[in-house]
Amino acid sequence: MAYAEEDRNSYEAYKETADWLRARTFQRPKTAIICGSGLGGLADVLDNKTIFPCEDIPHFPQSTVNIQNYVNIQVLSNMHVTFPIRVFFLLGVEILIVTNAAGGLNPHFQVGDIMFIRDHISMLGLGGQNPLRGPNDERFGVRFPCMSDAYEQDLLSLAMESAQELGFLSFVREGVYCLQAGPSYETIAECRALHALGGDAVGMSTVPEVIVARHCGLRVLGISLITNKVVMNYNSQEKANHEEVLRISVVRAEALQKLVTHLIGKLGESTNSP
Ligand code: HPA
Repeated sequence: MAYAEEDRNSYEAYKETADWLRARTFQRPKTAIICGSGLGGLADVLDNKTIFPCEDIPHFPQSTVNIQNYVNIQVLSNMHVTFPIRVFFLLGVEILIVTNAAGGLNPHFQVGDIMFIRDHISMLGLGGQNPLRGPNDERFGVRFPCMSDAYEQDLLSLAMESAQELGFLSFVREGVYCLQAGPSYETIAECRALHALGGDAVGMSTVPEVIVARHCGLRVLGISLITNKVVMNYNSQEKANHEEVLRISVVRAEALQKLVTHLIGKLGESTNSP
């Protein structure tokens, strides 16, 4: 059924999408993954995929979706970025893993580091743009959801254990992710301000999905790939650019894929254990 734009966020629209998917695959994923810039290669390592072109899925933002043990979504328009999260919820997904590319604010971070997100600072949220604004549907969650536990400690510990088992600790960090709207990169003064506020990395994605996921009770793990060090100094000749972000994503993509695959194995173990 065609929905007017304002109805696209109705419970019925989400349910129609979830029912459509459920009717077309036997997969019942427990974990969903959203891949950030240049990190879509995670989908390539899945076997046993069911692939749905996004234009076929009712109400779905235009992108590519693979459903296997888990669901992978690549490159969604900002406007519809949170739509799949509630569909995941209705499909019975329990864990959301979000990956993104981010600029390093923490001077100890190196290009190519992988940062597990401990917490976030949303410049959009603090400025009045929260994906949960508007009427609340209690079937998804409460009006005023808590965010002090947005990134689950148990998942973070499991992710750290995976990093250790794979010998990745030399380039794995933990830190606070700052969201700014983009698409322009930050000014030098903005980078200094975000660092002073407690940010370790800055990017243009992920936080809206995390808020919507926590609202409906999904457990969240966030992973940032540090693709560049932000410019903090007026004497610097460095300039942030998207090509560099994509280049570094390719360099570390394999490590990130190994990490996520290893972690999913551990999640399987921890959920299957008696
Ligand atoms: N700023 C914002 N978003 C980003 C950056 C950055 O420096 N690098 C990758 N995504």
